[in-house]
Amino acid sequence: MVDKIGNILAKDYGLDRPVEQKSFYVKGAEHCDWGMKDRLARIFDPKSGRTVMLAFDHGYIMGPTAGLERLDLAIPPLAPYADVLMATRGAIKSCVPPTFNKAIALRCTTDTSVLHEDLSYGHVGVDVEDAIRLNASCIVVQTFVGSKNEVGSFKNLSDMINAGNRYGIPVMGVTAVGKEMERTKRYFQLATRILAELGAQVIKTYYCEGFEEVTAACPVPIVIAGGKKTPEKEVLEMAYNAIRDGAAGVDMGRNIFQSENPAAMLRAVRAVVHENASAEEAYDLFLSLK
Ligand code: R5P
Repeated sequence: MVDKIGNILAKDYGLDRPVEQKSFYVKGAEHCDWGMKDRLARIFDPKSGRTVMLAFDHGYIMGPTAGLERLDLAIPPLAPYADVLMATRGAIKSCVPPTFNKAIALRCTTDTSVLHEDLSYGHVGVDVEDAIRLNASCIVVQTFVGSKNEVGSFKNLSDMINAGNRYGIPVMGVTAVGKEMERTKRYFQLATRILAELGAQVIKTYYCEGFEEVTAACPVPIVIAGGKKTPEKEVLEMAYNAIRDGAAGVDMGRNIFQSENPAAMLRAVRAVVHENASAEEAYDLFLSLK
């Protein structure tokens, strides 16, 4: 119980130190609520302003992808080097110990499997209450800009943004690229800008030529996916170029967990993202660690 008598008199009001007014460092998030900012600060490192997300949600459309045959074996050695674990609720609940205490980017859309003739159909499969129960720092929604189901995927995104805004959870809009979709600056500018204007607080897309004009035209942070497995040196070059061109980090999967040494590769990517290492320095780090 609070005492009424015998208390030390309050006297240190720091009268010579005015309250510091700081702006929030995450692009486009200045006017978000405290809880939203707190979650964004779990995603984007306050020192570098960037993030390394480890994506291992591939099983939700591809089944047991190479490198992710056993999530319980693949993820624990990598988790210490990731800022964010990006996955499905099934993977997180069954294979990610809550003691890792990492920021979670929770995939909340259910999309068609790789066996389906049209990969652009999806719906919201995870309600926001389950995202809260999982202590998600971010909700992830797939969109298919330019596909037959474009509007349906925009509705999924808007629904989750409305739900996320109610509870202070940012939404990461993903620009999926289908077989028939372009991978040009023009396409990625259009797609990322649309998702940001719909209200997504973070966008995930792919790196392309002229990427600095994609990030410049997008009012919120962009992270890049890694794409199909390519040689480590090339991936580190892509990561370096993306950061140089204004990306706020990576959300990388196959080029990490399918690397000949996933932990070394993740640490090398980390050096590029957080320590401004060049691609050559990061590749040397990879070679020395592997
Ligand atoms: C895309 O939506 C997938 O679910 C992956 O999360 C994403 O493509 C990142 O993984 P990767 O670096 O393997 O492309």
